[in-house]
Amino acid sequence: MQPIDTPHIPVLIEEVLDFLNPDKGGLYVDCTFGAGGYSRRILEAGANKLIAIDRDVNVAATAEKFAQEYGNKFEFHNIANDKIGIALEGLSGTIDGIVYDIGVSSMQIDTPERGFSFQVDGPLDMRMDQRDNLSAYDVVNTYTQGELARIIYEYGDEQRSRSIAKQIVDARHEKPIETTLELVRIIQKAVGHYRDDINPATRTFQAIRIEVNKELDQLKASLHAAKSLLKVGGKIVVVSFHSGEDKIVKSLFNEWCGKKVNVNKYLPDKNLNSAPPQFKFLQKGIVIAEDNEIKTNPRARSARLRAIEKLI
Ligand SMILES: C[S@@+](CC[C@H](N)C(=O)[O-])C[C@H]1O[C@@H](n2cnc3c(N)ncnc32)[C@H](O)[C@@H]1O
Repeated sequence: MQPIDTPHIPVLIEEVLDFLNPDKGGLYVDCTFGAGGYSRRILEAGANKLIAIDRDVNVAATAEKFAQEYGNKFEFHNIANDKIGIALEGLSGTIDGIVYDIGVSSMQIDTPERGFSFQVDGPLDMRMDQRDNLSAYDVVNTYTQGELARIIYEYGDEQRSRSIAKQIVDARHEKPIETTLELVRIIQKAVGHYRDDINPATRTFQAIRIEVNKELDQLKASLHAAKSLLKVGGKIVVVSFHSGEDKIVKSLFNEWCGKKVNVNKYLPDKNLNSAPPQFKFLQKGIVIAEDNEIKTNPRARSARLRAIEKLI
């Protein structure tokens, strides 16, 4: 397979490097290799070694180019990142930094046969790993109306989730829904036409993609594994683009950093976990992209970065 040529512009990369400090050498894991934008900058900044993970076999050719360029400073695993604990078991407690740039890549969106885009016609697929069984076709054609409404509401933040689910179920009584543009037309029927400049299919497509790839479960499991792989002083940096993902990152990081929570507004904040914190925050709240980055890369608009450092 040929390396992917469609450019993917890395989001918040300068901020990621500031938190990871690969200029001091060390061993790093990029849990979402994609076009290798983060990996390249981490290696170029001075990392001794970078281990790249991606569940999409289509990035293997890019990884092969990296292997030729960087030799044994680079290693690639074509696995879902919830498996890093198993794949990198021998490296437990040795890793200096682990980074995530979650979600879909420009290459995936721009390949119509992958079925991620609501702008071009393609089969309803949306699998990041084409070895997986569940595809968007299965979700759209076999999930119950209630399941569809829940997914579209929870993962898509879509207020019209119930009517979209109803239109999907009505349409598939006639014949299975097979392509992305068929689905777009059904969503448009339920939602009406464009509000502002957001295509009405945006949220539903995002929701189905998250369900197909079990993205939220993956993230949770992967962060737990990352925690054990890090050495003391090691960092986890996560860039996410969806409120559900960010909620997971925020809540795990709060717990690991021993953040006090307000259980009763009349009492002082309370640390629910009495054990000493295992991590500290590297910044207060989230980091978002500056206007000039958003101008050159609109994908940066919804990016949120969180970073922590292991203490014990
Ligand atoms: C937004 S892109 C990453 C782009 C990369 N940072 C760059 O600068 O080129 C996300 C990549 O992560 C991969 N990915 C998403 N979820 C994953 C998971 N749970 N396990 C492994 N790879 C995943 C996708 O296949 C995609 O290639």
